[in-house]
Amino acid sequence: MFGPKIHCVVIVGAQWGDEGKGKIVDVLAERADLVVRYQGGANAGHTVNTDAGQFVLHQIPSGILQGAVCLVGNGVVLDPETFFTELDELTSRGVRTEHKLYVSDRAHLTLPYHKLLDRARERREQIGTTGRGIGPTYEDKYGRRGLRVGDLRHLSRAREFVCARAEAANDFLALLGSTERADPKEHVALLERLAPRLLPIAVDAGRVVFEALERGESVLLEGAQGALLDVDHGTYPYVTSSNTTAGGAAVGAGIGPTAIDAVTGVVKAYTTRVGNGPFPTEADPEVAKRIRDLGGEFGATTGRPRRCGWFDAVVVRYAVRINGLTGLAVTKLDVLDTFSEIPVCVGYRLNGEAVDSMPAEVEMLSRMEPLYETLPGWQKSTTGVRRLADLPPAARAYLDRLQDLARTPIQYVSVGTRRDQIIEVP
Ligand code: GDP
Ligand code: IMO
Ligand code: MG
Repeated sequence: MFGPKIHCVVIVGAQWGDEGKGKIVDVLAERADLVVRYQGGANAGHTVNTDAGQFVLHQIPSGILQGAVCLVGNGVVLDPETFFTELDELTSRGVRTEHKLYVSDRAHLTLPYHKLLDRARERREQIGTTGRGIGPTYEDKYGRRGLRVGDLRHLSRAREFVCARAEAANDFLALLGSTERADPKEHVALLERLAPRLLPIAVDAGRVVFEALERGESVLLEGAQGALLDVDHGTYPYVTSSNTTAGGAAVGAGIGPTAIDAVTGVVKAYTTRVGNGPFPTEADPEVAKRIRDLGGEFGATTGRPRRCGWFDAVVVRYAVRINGLTGLAVTKLDVLDTFSEIPVCVGYRLNGEAVDSMPAEVEMLSRMEPLYETLPGWQKSTTGVRRLADLPPAARAYLDRLQDLARTPIQYVSVGTRRDQIIEVP
C-alpha cells in the first residue's frame, strides 16, 4: 500500500457502510505512522479482531490496536462521554492510548441534547438513524451554533453557551411533541468533568497530519459509513449528515486534497444496509437471513439486523467515480463459500429501459429493477487461503468479474474476521 510515492491513503466505505473498514484499516495500520478519522461520530461501529479478542471502535480510529498514533479529525462530531468510555475500555484491555490518541480542537461536540433531538426527530422522520445525535450536531455546526473541543479552553463561556443551547433544544423538543427535556445543569457538569481530560489531548490535527507527511511518514485517513450514505451523493434523505466520500477526507482531516495519494474503497462481496431507504439488490427474506446468519450481519453500534442482498455493480461503479477510487478491498468473500450460485447486479432497468447510473431521487432508485448475472459458487472454504492463486477457480472468477464491473483493481481480499485472514493482491 505505502511506497515511495504513496504516503497518504484514504480508506472509504463504497456501499452503505459496515463494509469492513475497521478490519482493513487495522491490517494496513501495521505500516502506518498516523491514522485519522475524518467524519461521522459515534454512529460508526468498526470491528477489529486481534489475538486479544474483538474490539468495536466507534470514535477512536481503528489504527489504535496496531499502536499507530491516532487522530480524531475536525470533521468528526465527537461525543465526549462515549469517547472516554471507549478509551477507558481500551486501556482496561491493555491497549496503549497514552501519547497515541489526539483530538482536533476544531471537532464539534455531540452533547446530550443532540441525542434527545435526534430521537425526537426520528420518531417523525423515520430515517432509521443510530440515535447518536449525529444529524443535530452537524446541523448546529453548519448553523454556526456548535460547541467545539477548543471552546472548552474558555470554560465559563462554554458553560453559559451550553445552558442557552440546552434551553433552545427544550423549546424544539416541545415543538416536536417530545416529553423529554435536556437539563442545563447536567450539561455544565459534563463539560466540567470532561474538559480536564479532553484539553490535554486537543491539538491542531490538520497541522499534525501536514507535518507527518512533510517528514515522509505514512498516513491513513479512515472513513466512516459509506458512499451511499454521503449527505450529497447518497440515497438522500436516507443518508447520514456528513460527506463520507474521499472529498470529505481532505476537509475533515484538515489537509489539502493534493496531499492524498490513493483512495481504497472497501466493498463486501455482497451488499448490506442498516436503516431505511432503497436497496435495489435486497434479497428475499429467506436468502437475506442466510446471508445475515453466515456473515453475522447485525449492527456493530445498534445491534439491528442488517438488510442483506447481492453485490450491486451500479452502486460500486458510482462509488468509484465519486470517490476517485484507485483500488478496492473486497471483504467477506468467505461468507459466500456455501452458495451454489451467486447473483451479481450488473445494471438496472426502469420501464424496460437500461439504466446504469445512480438517480438523484430515492423514489426513482426504489423503482429500479436490478439486472442480474448469475455466477457459479465455489462451495469450498476460503478462510485459510492467503494467496490469490490458492483460491478456488470459481472464487477467482467471481473476483475478476467484480473487478471488471467496477473497472477498478482489487488490492485486498478478506476471507475472515481475523487480521491474518487477508490476501494481498500482488
Ligand atoms: P465497518 O463499519 O466498515 O468497519 O464494518 P463493521 O465492523 O461494522 O462490520 C463488518 C463485520 O464483518 C465485522 O463483524 C467484521 O468482524 C466482519 N468482517 C470483516 N471482514 C470480514 C471477512 O472477510 N469475513 C468475515 N466473515 N467477516 C468479516
Ligand atoms: P460504519 O462506519 C451503517 C446509517 C443509519 C441510518 C443513517 C443515518 O460502521 O460503516 P445517523 O445516525 O448517521 O444519522 O443515521 O445512516 N448509518 C450507518 N449504517 N454503518 C454505519 O457506520 C452507519 N452510520 C450511520 O443506520 O440509516
Ligand atoms: Mg460498522
